[in-house]
Amino acid sequence: MRPRRFTPTGPLRGHIRVPGDKSISHRSLMFGALAVGETRVAGLLEGEDVMATAAALEAMGAAIEREGDEWRIHGVGVGALLQPKAALEMGNSGTSTRLLMGLVASHPISATFVGDASLSKRPMGRVTEPLGRMGAEFDGTTLPLTERGLSPAIPIEYRLPVASAQVKSAVLLAGLNTAGVTSVIEPVPTRDHTERMLKGFGAQLWVEEQRGERVIRLRGEADLKPQRIDVPGDPSSAAFFAVAALIVPGSELVIENVGLNPTRAGLFAVLREMGGHIEELNRREVGGEPVADLLVRHSALEGIEVDPVFAPSMIDEFPILFVAASLAEGTTTTSGLDELRVKESDRLAAMAAALTGAGARIEEREDGLVIEGTGGMPLRGSANSRTRTHLDHRVAMSMAVAGLASRDGVEVDDTRPIATSFPAFEALLDGLAG
Ligand code: S3P
Repeated sequence: MRPRRFTPTGPLRGHIRVPGDKSISHRSLMFGALAVGETRVAGLLEGEDVMATAAALEAMGAAIEREGDEWRIHGVGVGALLQPKAALEMGNSGTSTRLLMGLVASHPISATFVGDASLSKRPMGRVTEPLGRMGAEFDGTTLPLTERGLSPAIPIEYRLPVASAQVKSAVLLAGLNTAGVTSVIEPVPTRDHTERMLKGFGAQLWVEEQRGERVIRLRGEADLKPQRIDVPGDPSSAAFFAVAALIVPGSELVIENVGLNPTRAGLFAVLREMGGHIEELNRREVGGEPVADLLVRHSALEGIEVDPVFAPSMIDEFPILFVAASLAEGTTTTSGLDELRVKESDRLAAMAAALTGAGARIEEREDGLVIEGTGGMPLRGSANSRTRTHLDHRVAMSMAVAGLASRDGVEVDDTRPIATSFPAFEALLDGLAG
């Protein structure tokens, strides 16, 4: 455990840059590993989760190395992943686990996946079920588990029972080495990096709307061409600094190079609806994704009822939204968030307990939180109690931000999980202090 107390620092001012997008970083490595030739990636997130993906791909035959500021991946080609000699260490990373299970599913290899205490509690049935239909075999539905792939695998048409980009991606990645067309039907759209990037790598992939649903079709036995990828800044990491600037009086912060793919940018729309001043400067495209610099000013936020249609486009941002709501004037109501109970922690329970411990007024419901804000007054903070983060990086960073807008500061029990997605978080925060 590495505890730390986060205390008010004064206004956040200046320019910062957040690290590369985690979802795009995982996919850059995976698709690079399946292309024949050298893929080069700039701006890769060097967090523990992404490094777990890199190590697993190396164990299956890809060569991955850092050269200067770039990462180079020598791919083996679709269908040519090798049998790993040892168990694949997934650490805390659900994305690594579920997407790699998709890759293994259609290769004639087997792999054992192991993870930390948080990952070992998370449901894998949502991917083992469709991948099983394609022919893969699994000896369980939670980690540790062993998967045996099948080649040739069976193409399927799969309607997602939960709004999950990881499940969608697992099926599509299995489809890459499956003869015929693999289809995924999404009743509710989720982040679309897999689709955008696979097209960029030269896969034959079509997306269409059918009766209000998104249908994605992928032709298998794909031939992926190596790419040069520029990874935009992660909106999910920018979120912590955006909320910090909104709630700390006197702040004016520019967060540069933030990815604003519409399937990821829900938080910024919700914060604006609450009265948050967030301006997009210098809108442009980086690596096939919309990007802008965000200018964020301290604002008097107002509580709102958050429409559950926003949930998929801000699914990782609810912990930090709950912090913003705790400082707003009036009541914020969230609903439709059952998925938050199966993230790195049960984020409804963990955030309700953490914020209540810091003096916020929270009602926990089955599928959301109802938050009575302070109207801009600092939270009391937690002088005598430690916030429990449950191995969840986003709970740790959210409560660090809450500490900035508190009287007594907020003590976080363990900051180590922050390194899974945002190793530079504390240094960046400390650099802005004063
Ligand atoms: C991710 C999808 C989301 C998100 C996770 C990253 C991805 O998970 O929470 O942090 O890269 O596909 P779900 O697919 O479980 O919603």
